[in-house]
Amino acid sequence: MTWAPGLPVGSREARLVEAADMLQTAHAPLVSMRSPALTGRVRVPGDKSISHRALMLGALASGRTRITGLLEGEDVLNTGRVLNAMGCPVNQAGDAWEVLGRGVGGLAQPERALDFGNSGTGVRLMMGLIAGNPIVARLVGDASLSRRPMGRVLDPLARMGAEVEAGARTLPLTLRGSADLLPIEYQLPVASAQIKSAILLAGLHASGRTSVIEPEATRDHTERMLGYFGAEVTVAMADGKRRISVAGNGELEGRTLAVPGDPSSAAFLVAAALIVPQSEIRIEAVLVNPTRTGFYTTLQEMGADLTLENEREQGGEPVADLSVRHSPLKGVRVPAARAPSMIDEYPVLACVAAYAEGETEMAGLAELKVKESDRLAATAAGLQVNGVNARPAADSLIVAGGKGVRGGGTVKTHLDHRIAMAFLTLGLAADRPVTVDDAGIIATSFPQFRSLMQGLGARLAAPEDVRG
Ligand code: S3P
Repeated sequence: MTWAPGLPVGSREARLVEAADMLQTAHAPLVSMRSPALTGRVRVPGDKSISHRALMLGALASGRTRITGLLEGEDVLNTGRVLNAMGCPVNQAGDAWEVLGRGVGGLAQPERALDFGNSGTGVRLMMGLIAGNPIVARLVGDASLSRRPMGRVLDPLARMGAEVEAGARTLPLTLRGSADLLPIEYQLPVASAQIKSAILLAGLHASGRTSVIEPEATRDHTERMLGYFGAEVTVAMADGKRRISVAGNGELEGRTLAVPGDPSSAAFLVAAALIVPQSEIRIEAVLVNPTRTGFYTTLQEMGADLTLENEREQGGEPVADLSVRHSPLKGVRVPAARAPSMIDEYPVLACVAAYAEGETEMAGLAELKVKESDRLAATAAGLQVNGVNARPAADSLIVAGGKGVRGGGTVKTHLDHRIAMAFLTLGLAADRPVTVDDAGIIATSFPQFRSLMQGLGARLAAPEDVRG
């Protein structure tokens, strides 16, 4: 509890802090080893993007919002703590979480800095909320988050009337919101759901309609969920681009919500089953929103025996059960246009590509460089240190596979949960063990990663427990 001293024991806020503390696993290395067939039926934790949004829209609503399946990873718990610090109670209630909404414009002045830990989604979306309230907030994060670009969100919010500390482009920074935001029309300079969402959330507080035009479709959970909570939101196509508009001074009503399984977490299990011989697994109730399934489309093109079964709706989002079997794979060219729908899955795709026959070429990866780490560089370096021919370029990556994976290397994770999980997956079929230097960071998005993988049969162990 070093980072939130002085909270009354047993208070709502203290309980959230304790939950986050328990997840703060030591930043220790972990080794993955060639494993026997992976088998079983599992569920993965709730979708991270939807979990953040459920808490935030719950806060903006009037009345109670009840959320089941919320991802209890550090990123999302930090969002809950930040809302608490702005006067919005977020509580665990049995197997659900409840948010007592404060209404649009109802956030209170926080008494200390708001710590978003590792989460870009948490801080960027919350900037949209803070912008619409007459409060001043100091925003901080960990070393990874403090390196990531914030100007992309701050610039449009400043146009709407928020005041940003002079010259600030990265955390830590101070943001002053306003009760009189102006609506804007904004063309996204990069395909980013976080920028789009921050503007739409601020737009909910503005006097008039705010519109965002996106060059390529990005994940659409914010617009779907805004509609579900009763906001007046429209989506139209103009010149091949999506234009999303939200009416200002809106009112949202508290809702009940079930968060589907995270396809970005399921991706590691699916990848593991594909590369470990004789594996066969099933993952139930995974989100299959088409703005998120580019990785699965790519795997099918590579020849994966992967099917989406029992497709259905859950809380306004499509879900399905994923059935996957070990398959011989071939390299493919992944078009740049697919990047927004699989942006978080490139590290693990590159690891799968190491086991595919021939070259896999991934294009349009510029945004990978500004994730929790420079994922283009980190992925290429992790492959190379394990004997895989990986050739990064300005915004593309070519992986030449099919010769087996030597392994034996230690991968630098740079505080990036997905780099850690991708390379632990790589090691499950490699000739020699693969070590990642920090598995603790995985708790940001997928605290159950190790136990779920081991439950399927994966061999993961601390370095001191691995013999020569
Ligand atoms: C997210 C959007 C993506 C993604 C991130 C989650 C979201 O980021 O990489 O993990 O929930 O909106 P960008 O919007 O920056 O591409």
